Parts: sequence; structure tokens; C-alpha cells
Amino acid sequence: MKPRVLVTRHVYPAAISILQEHCVVDYQDTYDVMDAERLQRRLQHAHGVVCQLTDPLTAAVIQAAPHLKVISQIAVGHDNIDLAAAAARGIVVTNTPGVLTEATADLTFALLLAVARRLPAAEQFLRAGEWKRWDVDLLCGADVAGRTLGLVGFGRIGQAVARRAKGFGMRILFSSRSDGNAAVANELGAMQVPLEMLLKQSDFVSLHVPLRAETRHLIGVEQLCQMKRSAFLINTARGPVVDEAALVAALEENLIAGAGLDVFEHEPQVHPGLLALPNVVLLPHVGSAVTSVRALMCALAASDCAAVLTGERPKHPVAAPGRS
Ligand code: DGY
Repeated sequence: MKPRVLVTRHVYPAAISILQEHCVVDYQDTYDVMDAERLQRRLQHAHGVVCQLTDPLTAAVIQAAPHLKVISQIAVGHDNIDLAAAAARGIVVTNTPGVLTEATADLTFALLLAVARRLPAAEQFLRAGEWKRWDVDLLCGADVAGRTLGLVGFGRIGQAVARRAKGFGMRILFSSRSDGNAAVANELGAMQVPLEMLLKQSDFVSLHVPLRAETRHLIGVEQLCQMKRSAFLINTARGPVVDEAALVAALEENLIAGAGLDVFEHEPQVHPGLLALPNVVLLPHVGSAVTSVRALMCALAASDCAAVLTGERPKHPVAAPGRS
């Protein structure tokens, strides 16, 4: 009998074809998000699930899925999945790192440039018909080339952002809990420093850490106060890494110069304070939103799900908590 796989939301079609070769697919081909209760019901007979970061794979949902063997997430981040509950049941969790690195680094740099050079404000100004002539101080922004970039987290995406920054002649600092990046850091001329030093010296602070208990509100009042008043905060990682209320206050009080945000603490809600501020650029979590990349992410999650269900090793298993 073929294993059953639930695909929780609309995906690129190749993913469904991959799954159908080996599995019976229960496909919810809509953009609706299932709440925990519906997910629990649909997982009753499933051996695998291909899910997205909007799906609450909580301990209760996982415990109530008696046949579940694999959870394949179409994303690199997996903070919507209770890894401990999965590990306790021997359920394999997979994700899709690698394929989205360059796209996310491109978007990070686009956001950095957009906020520093006030691109959305400039475009709105033009579209509103307010452009009457060239003025010497019209819509001036901040330097990027030659400035200091502080990368909080120096994994695949942080390193890819550093490669772009090198092209801009930036000084690159990074903070990381691992010491194993010396070769890449050397090649990029990046210097590992403690977080506090990074915050104090950087003109742009860009976040590239996963959301875990220890990174939730990693950037709060204290850290924002350590940043230069002329500095910008860029977040393309996960919203809750930043204390959003503290960020709004810091921006309102001009403790920092601005922020470029692709992720938010309570997505898809955006703090009303952010919406009211002129010195922020806000995007709807589109870091990896490149057609080819999203198609690859879907295919990768589907093939890893099928791999586990046919007794093969998945390409990208997520380490159980406490193991790395
Ligand atoms: C991820 O992969 O975690 C992103 O947030 C979506 O691409």
C-alpha cells in the first residue's frame, strides 16, 4: 500500500508529480492556512506532510498524527515545527536550505540599499507628481560603499550577504556562536566580534540567525541603544528575533536611523507604529520569492518527503534538538 502524504497548501506542480510517483497525495490546493485543529484532522491517516512556515506543527498536532513519519518543510526556517515532539516520536523533519541562499542575500542587500537611499520614498514622490526639478538636497540618503556591515549570524545566508558587501567595499563584522568560519571569514575579510562590539561599530546591522528560544528578542531595547544613531537595522531572518515594540520606540526616538524589514513578529500583522514611520522599508516576507527558487524549494521538500517514505536518506534532515 502506498504511503499517504498531506500537502497543506498550494505548491509548484512538480512537487505533486514527485510525490505521486510513490505516494497517495491529499492535496489542499488553496492558499488557505489550516489551523491546528484542521491540520490534526487531515493528518489522521498521513504518513508524511509537506508543509509551509504558516502551518502550526505543534506538539499537540504531531502527537495526534499516529502514522506520521516525516515532516517536510518548504523553507529553511522551521520554527513552526515542534522539533522535540517530532524527535520524541521518531519523525524525521526536513527543510530546504541552500537553494534560497542567493535569493535571500540579494533581497537583504536590496532592502539595505532601499532604506539607505530612501528608494520607496523617492518612487512615491515621483509617482505623486511632486518632482519639479533637481535639487541639491532632494531625497538624500546614507552612504553604503565603504561603510561597516555587521552580520548577526554567519551561516550560508550571512556569508552570501558578506560576499555582496565585499563588492561594495564595506568593512564586514560578524557575530556567531560558532568559531568554525575562519576560512570563509578570511576570504571575505570579515572579522568575528562579540555582538555588543558589532552593534556599536556597524552602520548596518543585518540579522541572519534562526529563531530559537535563545534568539527570540535577541535585538531589544538594550541592543538598539548600543547601535549608532546613524545605523540601520535589516531583518530578513525571522520577526521575533527583534522586539518589535522596542524597535518602533527606537525608531520614533531616532535612536537608530531606520530599518529594512522583510519579516515581522506577528506575521502577517505589521506593528501599526512601523506603518506610520517614514524611515522604514517594509516587505511581506519575500526573501526567497524568486520563481525558480520557490519551485526548487517545493521540489526539494517533496523529494525528501518521498525519500523518507521509501526508506531512503533525505538530503536535508533537520537535526533533532540538542544535536547539530
Ligand atoms: C525560509 O526559508 O525560512 C524563508 O523565510 C522563506 O523562504
